[in-house]
Formats: sequence, C-alpha cells, structure tokens
Amino acid sequence: DVQLRKLFTDTDQYAGKEVVVRGWVRTNRSSNKFGFVEINDGSYFKSVQVVYEEENIENYEQIAKAPIAAALCVIGELTLTPEAKQPFEIKATKIVVEADSDADYPLQKKRHSLEFLREIAHLRPRSNTFSAVFRVRSLVAYAIHRFFQDQNFVYVHTPIITGSDAEGAGEMFQVTTLDLDKLPRNDDGKIDYSQDFFGKETNLTVSGQLEAETFALAFRNVYTFGPTFRAENSNTARHASEFWMIEPEVAFADINDNMELAESMIKYIINYILEHAPEEMKFFNEFIDKGLLDRLNNIVSNEFARITYTEAVEILKKSDKEFQFPVEWGIDLQTEHERYITEEVFKKPVFVTDYPKEIKAFYMRLNEDGKTVAAMDLLVPGVGEIIGGSQREERYDNLVARINEMGLHEKDYWWYLDLRKYGGVKHAGYGLGFERIIMYITGMSNIRDVLPFPRTPKTAEF
Ligand code: 4AD
Ligand code: MG
Repeated sequence: DVQLRKLFTDTDQYAGKEVVVRGWVRTNRSSNKFGFVEINDGSYFKSVQVVYEEENIENYEQIAKAPIAAALCVIGELTLTPEAKQPFEIKATKIVVEADSDADYPLQKKRHSLEFLREIAHLRPRSNTFSAVFRVRSLVAYAIHRFFQDQNFVYVHTPIITGSDAEGAGEMFQVTTLDLDKLPRNDDGKIDYSQDFFGKETNLTVSGQLEAETFALAFRNVYTFGPTFRAENSNTARHASEFWMIEPEVAFADINDNMELAESMIKYIINYILEHAPEEMKFFNEFIDKGLLDRLNNIVSNEFARITYTEAVEILKKSDKEFQFPVEWGIDLQTEHERYITEEVFKKPVFVTDYPKEIKAFYMRLNEDGKTVAAMDLLVPGVGEIIGGSQREERYDNLVARINEMGLHEKDYWWYLDLRKYGGVKHAGYGLGFERIIMYITGMSNIRDVLPFPRTPKTAEF
C-alpha cells in the first residue's frame, strides 16, 4: 500500500494507475447506487475521497454502512479531478473492512471544543487540529536539531534525576523510591528524605543548564533537548509541570552572541515549518488564528527589538495604560507588562536584557553597575516569554558571593565552581520553552493543547 502523503505530493506519478491505500473513515455517504468515503491514514493532513459503486463493489452494503473511524483497505484507480477541490480521487474496485468501529465514537464530523478534546487525550490526535499540532511539534523538534547540528553543536543528554537545583528557585519534584522498606530512616523510625537516592536528596531536573555548561567548556558549542519539570503551582495557559526545553550553551560567547544565536534559531524554525508544513499552517491560519501567516512572515523578515530592563520599566511608567501590578524599578515583569511591550509598543519579538540581580538566578553574570545581571529574555506577542538566558558568571569569587547571597549552599555547587577554576572562559546560553514556540507557531493559546499528554497541577488521566 502507499501512504497518502506520497499520493498528494507525487500525484502525477500515480495518475491512472491502480493504488492500494489503508486508512480510517472520516466521512461516508451513499445512495443505493454509489457512495463516497473519505479516508485518512495520518501520513498527510488531507483525506482522500474514494468513490465506490454498487455495480462493481461486491460488499457494497457493508461499505455503505462503514462508520466513522472504521479502518478500510481500498484498491482502486487514482483519477485526476482538476475541476474539484481535491486534485484526485480513487475509484474503488475492491474495499476490505480491516476494523469496524462502534457507533458511539466521540469524534463525529463537527467541530469539537478544545476543552472537550482535552478530556479524550487518547483520541484527540485523530482530529484535524491535533493532527496538525503534533505533526508541527515533531517537525519543530527536527528543525531544532538540524539548526544546531548544521553548526557543529554537540547534543548532550543531561540527567533527569539530579541533586542540584539549577535555578535555585526550589520548584522541584522530589524523587523517592516506592519501596518503603528500602528507605533510609531516622533514629525515630521516620523516613529520612535527605538520604534518598545514592545517599543524596534528589529531584527531577528543572533545567539541564548547569550540566550543559560542563560540556560547553569541553566541546565549545553544545545543546540539550529534553524534558524538564517544575513544581510551581501556577494554573495558567502557559505553564506545565512537565515541559521540554532546548538549552544551547556556547563557550567564548557573550550576551550579544547569545541574542544573535536565539534570533537566528527562531527564524530558522519558522522558515522550516512554513516550508515543510504548508497544509497544517494554512489550517491554523484559517481556523485557529487568523493573521498567523502574515505575522510569522513578518517575524522572519524583520529584526527583533532589543531593550534593557531599565528601558522597559521607563516605557511602562510612561504609558497611559493602567496596570494591575504597579511598575517600579526592581519588580519582576508580569504578563500584562510583557504583553504591553510586545503587542502594543513593538508589535514584534523583543529581547529584554540586564535585569536586577535580585529577580534572576545566581549564575548570571553581574554587570559593571553591580545592580543588574547579563540576562536576556525573549518576549513575543501572544505568548510572552519564550526564551530565558544569560551570560554566565565566570568569575569564581563573584559566583561564590552570589551563591551565598541567594541562601544556596556552596558545597552543593562544588563541581560547578570547579568549571571556573580550570579554563573557565566567558560563556553564555539560553533555554527555549519547546511548548511555547509550538504555541507561537501554531497560534494555539493553551499549553495543554500542544503537549501530547499534558501534565499540569490538575491533570488526571494517563
Ligand atoms: O527562564 P527559565 O526558567 O530559564 C532556565 O531554566 C535557564 N536555565 C535556561 C538557560 O539559560 N539555559 O526557562 C526557560 C524557558 C522559559 O523562557 C519558558 O519558555 C520555558 O522555559 N518555561 C516553561 N514552559 C512551560 N511551562 C513551565 N512551567 C515553564 N517554565 C519555563
Ligand atoms: Mg525565565
């Protein structure tokens, strides 16, 4: 049999020939003489129309009754239909029912709400929207690997179970064994969680950055691409407990090199998807977010804006807009502030740099002013922050001071500090939220709808 993707892309090669296709019924209607069944095999966004006639299909009655989601194997001639909406159809000579489907199949031919589809995560990949989302998700992953591999970056697998808090924010899920007998106990018989795994308290990683730095100082250019976990109890449309992150780390690079890398990566990904998923993108533009294609085309052909945190605060203070959260130098920018800056002032992606050190992680490089750090966040219209990164503090004494100031324990970071002792050049990197870039490219507005099996504080199934 041949996949629909092949038929749709090399149609001429099959014109007038006999083909065999397998797929699931999307629609089926018939009279007592002939019928039309649309089948989709998941290899392509579109379905193929199959025409079947009572005259030459021996099990005509059975096919006419085949319900949505039944699986068929069709043998027939591929006929070009230049006048019709679809470029071709198949005139069936034989159809075999490979699997029947119950009549209570929840995905009938109508538009279902995203909330409803979320409740049937095991079936929603079969809907048009999620077929498009998850193919794009797969292609974005591939584009990211290509972008870095073409530039000789080494892909490093950082640990999922870890003893260090990379962000120093204490938002970690603890890892423990379920075998209660094997758990270390205190003298009073209570479980001693500080002696959990290999004699150390362990957690699910919040970021692979610190380990990526060790590889950057050996390979120069590296990146991670893996799952990360955050135990923040924020029930928003942009936060998940389990999400994927891409973290490049580059030796001999400063914050400006970092921004250039991030900007060219985002543009590369968007161009790749526009070229390799045109049908899916047309669908998003029509049904999910009108104006999406114009916006994405604009992004790839224009430079991103760059402002400092201090400039951002000035812009916000000068605006007539009433913010719920008052603006003062030193505050962490809230979603409403980020949206105002990207959506109303610049109307394009904006790098915000040099944040106050108090609101950023311990590893960021302290600037000359002693108050700000060489941080860079990339904010985009519609989604907000999609990248967080920085130039790293490569000076040993400064780093120790920051660790202590933040109330962290120097001994937990001994190997990280070692990197500063042995050839610790300047270096920089960032983390791209994988789901956030998928949201940005597809126009989907809830992170639960770009994760195959979303893990949020309220998920139940799976
Ligand atoms: O800004 P964050 O916390 O930065 C880091 O973790 C650094 N260690 C990255 C680095 O410099 N190597 O997270 C990076 C990005 C955010 O900009 C956001 O896009 C995404 O990860 N992110 C989340 N995505 C979904 N759900 C969450 N709970 C997220 N938290 C962060
Ligand atoms: Mg951040």
